[in-house]
Amino acid sequence: MTRTGATRPHPAAPPGVSSLASIRPFRRLWIALSVSGLGHWLSVPALTAMAATLTRDDDAAARAQAVGGVLVALLVPAVLLAPFAGTLASRLDRRLTLLVADALRFVIVLSVPLLDALPWTFAAAFLVACVSVVWSAVAATAPAGLVPDELRPAARHSAARAMCWPAPVAAVVFAFVALIAKGTFGEGDRADLALYVTAGVFLVATAGVAALGEVPGTEPIGTPSPLRILFQGPRQQDVRGLGLAVAGVSLAAGAVVAVARVHTGHLGGGDAGYGAVLTGLTVGLGFGLFLGPRVLGPFSRRRLLGLAVIAAALALVVVSLVQNLVVVAFVTAFLGVAAGAAWSTAAVVLAGDEPSEDRPDAFPRSVALVTALVVVAAVPPLAGVIGSRHYDLGDGDYDFQGTGAALLIAALLALLAGLVAFRRLDDRHGVPLVADLRAALHGRVYTPPEQAVVEDRRVARRERGVFIAFEGGEGAGKTTQARLAAIWLRDHGYDVITTQEPGATKIGMRLRAMLLDRETTGLSSRAETLLYAADRADHVANVIRPAMERGAIVVSDRYVDSSLAYQGYGREQPVEEIARVNAWATGGLVPDLTVLLEVPPQTGLGRLSAPADRIESEPNEFHERVRAGFHALAEAEPERYLVLDASRPQGELSREIQYRIREILPDPIPAGTEDVTSTFPIITD
Ligand code: TMP
Repeated sequence: MTRTGATRPHPAAPPGVSSLASIRPFRRLWIALSVSGLGHWLSVPALTAMAATLTRDDDAAARAQAVGGVLVALLVPAVLLAPFAGTLASRLDRRLTLLVADALRFVIVLSVPLLDALPWTFAAAFLVACVSVVWSAVAATAPAGLVPDELRPAARHSAARAMCWPAPVAAVVFAFVALIAKGTFGEGDRADLALYVTAGVFLVATAGVAALGEVPGTEPIGTPSPLRILFQGPRQQDVRGLGLAVAGVSLAAGAVVAVARVHTGHLGGGDAGYGAVLTGLTVGLGFGLFLGPRVLGPFSRRRLLGLAVIAAALALVVVSLVQNLVVVAFVTAFLGVAAGAAWSTAAVVLAGDEPSEDRPDAFPRSVALVTALVVVAAVPPLAGVIGSRHYDLGDGDYDFQGTGAALLIAALLALLAGLVAFRRLDDRHGVPLVADLRAALHGRVYTPPEQAVVEDRRVARRERGVFIAFEGGEGAGKTTQARLAAIWLRDHGYDVITTQEPGATKIGMRLRAMLLDRETTGLSSRAETLLYAADRADHVANVIRPAMERGAIVVSDRYVDSSLAYQGYGREQPVEEIARVNAWATGGLVPDLTVLLEVPPQTGLGRLSAPADRIESEPNEFHERVRAGFHALAEAEPERYLVLDASRPQGELSREIQYRIREILPDPIPAGTEDVTSTFPIITD
């Protein structure tokens, strides 16, 4: 009758993303930023390919180091200059900064094929990266300045997307441009085309920004130093192993990027092969980012993070040993999926109170950036030092290049990091991994047999009752409907208890006073969530479970879904995390039926007679999010919900509720009984 709460689906983006598109200045800025983002990502393969072309007559070691040098030049500003860039950007006009950044990058990138010299390629990479750091600081915040306050978190989220989604597109464009260049240009000029295309993209972006109206500088720009964040460690203290996990995947992905240009050359692919590998990596990353929070819902996120790092490392082992470009591109895509899933899972593990205000991913970002810098600086020279080895295997030769060997070393280090991180992150010690995974694949949480026996006995003793929850926004009429349902059930001879949240127990009443009193100010969203969960834990332990153990029907006015809707969707906190806290607080007790009464917030709030409490007096947007949240929860589990339009007549609603309750009663009430009972005065009252 009850089941262990599994991870619930949660929205990938904060509510409001869809309404942003209707704000014209926002939409135009978003498009301009996406075009700049495309140029930003294109400049990476274009500049590295140029370095490889300029060293085409040198040995592999020199080429690898030239490419590595460009990558270092591209990364150093992000690691060392971020705070200066932030300070500078916050003093300048936002639109002008974006405009100048695009124009400067256009000129610098255009100059590279014209000057055709390695030192200038390094310098250009460094300068482009310096400009990009200032550009990203502004781009991350500027869109939020164009929208109303309540849409700002969604706007920040959307800005981050505008900067990231062009990465795989850039890789595909680069691969195509390289193919065209191969058929059209001589060997020495092939890399030029990609640079001209990149410059062209920056020129279009410059024109796009020039056409924009004013971009107000209302949003603060915060670009803390990655090195400082790295040394401070994560804000959350209980995430041992998370930094190591992020370092492990960055090592694996960074190593591929560091040597891909030269390694694909050994495998018979030129710039187009390089583009194909980068496409695999970036498309895989995007897919993995999407997949991370959605895959294996009931499986521990910490275990998943460790496993994703191990998977990325194993993929790198294959990449380092296989001598076939197509296989390498596909396995790199798998590596990307694992790395993306690791990244988004790390963000879930770390998710904080206000994800959009105070970036919870600041720590993993810093770890990733610094690791990537070390990797691109160290792996190419390592490849050069190792050099190539030729093995005669009897029926065929095997050339093991320095780049392959360096990748193998990186893979083994990443694997070690993954294994240690898995051990440290593991929050299900002693639970066999394979059984845990298998159960998760079937949508269940694995319970070890010895625990299951105890559980089963408890279940047999205890779970004879029925649990019905009523949910909805303010003024939806659930209290009335819960009462009517209880009267109807009692009338049919059932032992029924009616109860409510918050405040059904002595402790709960105190908590309720704290939670709803308008005098309570400055309560953090996290504390609020925990106070509701504490009330619920006490409620379940002292009211609901005892009643169910004696076989009663429990009718509760609000339960866990209220926290998911109000604290999760309403306060824009991670819904999945709140579901976990509540699953723990309630011992996994889930209602057999949840009746959701839907009413537009304005109508519901208008029905209230008493002065608004702390939650009721939240702005309309908050209540809209709560409503959307309830809706999403009901859609995710339709078999458990009865969703009703609360504006319908009370009698009709009661009848529909009774009809549905009848289906879940242990000893169903024969149809037709209502004809007699509904004439009882207490019901018709
Ligand atoms: P009530 O007005 O239905 O008694 O509920 C009290 C208020 O508390 C209501 O505004 C909804 C809010 N609430 C939450 O925000 N989270 C919760 O988990 C619960 C149970 C209620």
